[in-house]
Amino acid sequence: MVPKHVAIIMDGNGRWAKARLLGKAAGHRAGAQALRKLATEAEKIGVKFLTVYAFSTENWKRPQDEIDSLMNLLRDYIQQYIDDSKKNEMRISTIGDLSKLEPDLREKIRDLESMTLAKKGMRVIIALNYGGRDDIVRAARKAALAVASGKLGSNGLTEESFGQFLDTSDVPDPDLLIRTSGEMRMSNFLLWQTAYSEMYFTKKLWPDFNISDLNDAIEQYRSRDRRFGARKD
Ligand code: FPP
Repeated sequence: MVPKHVAIIMDGNGRWAKARLLGKAAGHRAGAQALRKLATEAEKIGVKFLTVYAFSTENWKRPQDEIDSLMNLLRDYIQQYIDDSKKNEMRISTIGDLSKLEPDLREKIRDLESMTLAKKGMRVIIALNYGGRDDIVRAARKAALAVASGKLGSNGLTEESFGQFLDTSDVPDPDLLIRTSGEMRMSNFLLWQTAYSEMYFTKKLWPDFNISDLNDAIEQYRSRDRRFGARKD
């Protein structure tokens, strides 16, 4: 079975660029191209949700010129997706705290989200200024408000109802989490949502990751025995 929801930590753009004596911006550009291609191919093989970590709450600590190049890349990429949306059925949405992004970028993202809202194809979820802890804290704040205003009894706060306050409230949990470039950590990605996701790590650098690598990851996913903490027999 093809996993319904694949989440990806797209790591290794910097090393990819360095190996070619290029700047970081070129690595991120190659990474964005790899994503655009992979999304089309993932949709063809039956993936329904694809969540990608494009910018974390910690990425603001990078040099300003790298942040600027990532934001500009995002501007171009969003525009490309707006153009693509006339010919394809992908729905694009975002998770993360967009309030820190430049207003023009935020507006472009909101346009793209609303333009593709009714699309029936694969849903691409771009994590922007996203942090798993930040997601949980923002959700906890909303839950506290709901309890304080009497909309929710404190006993009504369950894993299910809490999940409704997270950025991913209308998305099933990832079945498969992929991280490229040989690093083996979560780096504050979907901490709550990946409680039972299968993990796949590969040494490939993100700009080199292609559909054949995704198929390898899926093959390994298929061979895993997902018990969700229960016993099979
Ligand atoms: C990690 O590589 C990657 C990022 C911090 C950004 C990921 C962004 C993209 C793939 C492109 C932008 C995405 C969109 C949706 C336009 P790194 O720079 O940490 O790599 P390194 O560890 O080799 O330096």
